[in-house]
Amino acid sequence: MTKKRRSQHWYGKLDKDGFIHRSWMKNQGFPDHAFDGRPIIGICNTWSELTPCNSGLRDLAEMVKRGVWEAGGFPVEFPVMSLGETQMKPTAMLFRNLLAMDVEESIRAYGIDGVVLLGGCDKTTPGQLMGAASVDLPTIVVSSGPMLNGKYRGQDIGSGTDVWKFSEAVRAGEMTLKDFMSAESGMSRSKGVCMTMGTASTMASLVEAMGMSLPTNAALPAVDARRGALAHLTGKRIVEMVDEDLKPSDIMTRGAFENAIRANAAVGGSTNAVVHLLAMAGRLEVDVSLQDFELGSDIPLLVNCMPSGKYLMEDFCYAGGMPVVLKELADQNLLQSAQTVLGGDISVYSDGAECFNEDVIRPFADPVKPAAGLRVLQGNLAPNGAIVKPSAATDHLLEHEGEAYVFENIEDMKANIDREDLPVTADTILVLKGVGPKGYPGMPEVGNMPIPRRLVTEGVRDMIRISDGRMSGTAFGTVILHVSPESQAGGPLGLVKTGDRIRVSASTGALDLLVSDEELAARRADWQPDAPHYTRGYAKMYVDHVLQAEKGADLDFLVGKDTRLVTRESH
Ligand code: FES
Repeated sequence: MTKKRRSQHWYGKLDKDGFIHRSWMKNQGFPDHAFDGRPIIGICNTWSELTPCNSGLRDLAEMVKRGVWEAGGFPVEFPVMSLGETQMKPTAMLFRNLLAMDVEESIRAYGIDGVVLLGGCDKTTPGQLMGAASVDLPTIVVSSGPMLNGKYRGQDIGSGTDVWKFSEAVRAGEMTLKDFMSAESGMSRSKGVCMTMGTASTMASLVEAMGMSLPTNAALPAVDARRGALAHLTGKRIVEMVDEDLKPSDIMTRGAFENAIRANAAVGGSTNAVVHLLAMAGRLEVDVSLQDFELGSDIPLLVNCMPSGKYLMEDFCYAGGMPVVLKELADQNLLQSAQTVLGGDISVYSDGAECFNEDVIRPFADPVKPAAGLRVLQGNLAPNGAIVKPSAATDHLLEHEGEAYVFENIEDMKANIDREDLPVTADTILVLKGVGPKGYPGMPEVGNMPIPRRLVTEGVRDMIRISDGRMSGTAFGTVILHVSPESQAGGPLGLVKTGDRIRVSASTGALDLLVSDEELAARRADWQPDAPHYTRGYAKMYVDHVLQAEKGADLDFLVGKDTRLVTRESH
């Protein structure tokens, strides 16, 4: 006897409860046979006009529905919280876990058998996957897809990456404010996510490398008709996955996470992938640690996209996209065997893959940079770890000892960074406290703090910057991030004073504060955390329960999963 579908516990009952569940759904014009036991597919949509990167998802949802109907399923679309990276204050990351809760509880509470996750903007992809993983129904991702290449004065410009460059050029007096403002419209020319290899495209690429989307999902531009076809095919495939009972826990295994870590290095992916992959692994109870990101450290940079390279996601798509990257990794035996949403091994994703532009996707033998993966740093300044992205850094700064200049919080940094008398040189190490998960709260993307104006005008474009925050996936520089424990949680970062010496060595993975243990103990005795910024609501719950960066900054009570069927009725 075949197992009763999950949805039949809602719609298959010939009693008062079944009547209520079916009858109210029928007010939308659904016929009797929609409830005849066919797979019911939830389309979990993060569409919002306040998340411009996801503004194409309404159209894609309709394409998914076509595929679901065609395969004999019944599609039902539902909204969840949407996180507009460029629009939310204090930071969208504060709400990633809230989205994950929304997704998890929506999936659990409704009578659906499988889920298609429609996301794109940075935090929407991990938030949706974290929530879906905790319920563990058959799930596939369809991403928004990147915007078309940005254009300014006939040149390609990249989301985020060129904003940081233009902003520094204005501060250096090399670009007028008028030109700066006119670049704004040309940067975002179509629906879709940032078209650099920022966090959104990184996460879409890693989702593809983990086999949680159909092949080519990551790079197809948002407005490319082939993305609509991919959404349609995804709708067909999720119906089959329900019959096969193929779940996230079957796909996102240790091998899949290793593939994602190596792929992240090969694409020059965002540092934010670290906290998101760790949080996803926590939901699935897969043993992945911060140290595991060293698996990517020897992988060369193959994808020549901003911020680590010069091209954009549209170019990456036309060069062949992720299937080519996966083929390069597989050819070097660097891809673990792992199940995918197609029901076969990840090796299928690169079957027939061909590179059409070897300057955009370099072969292993001729990479953009050798050994480009993230480096994990540790030492008495970051006992639980920190990270740096060598592919986006300045080589000579990756081995450096210098004097710290400390900003106690974000307001201190903003008020003083451009002071003409700021006592800093290009060798100074800028330190920013209070921007970790609890401190800000929400661990914002401010770790790539600006270079002091006086130094910018002298031509300095990079310095070592250290904080307990994150940086945008579109950003670049020798920026040491995710220092843990964070300052607000009592980490040694909170004890650093201006004038202290700090030693950084990416080659040995060291991050040391050159201050004696006795002196640090004396400073600790005087240390006090900052008063909390929030005393009620979700933000208070977040601060009370958020884990540190090396645990993925999930909430402590959300780690793991609960796949039980809810049996109690609403009436
Ligand atoms: Fe949404 Fe970059 S701001 S993807």
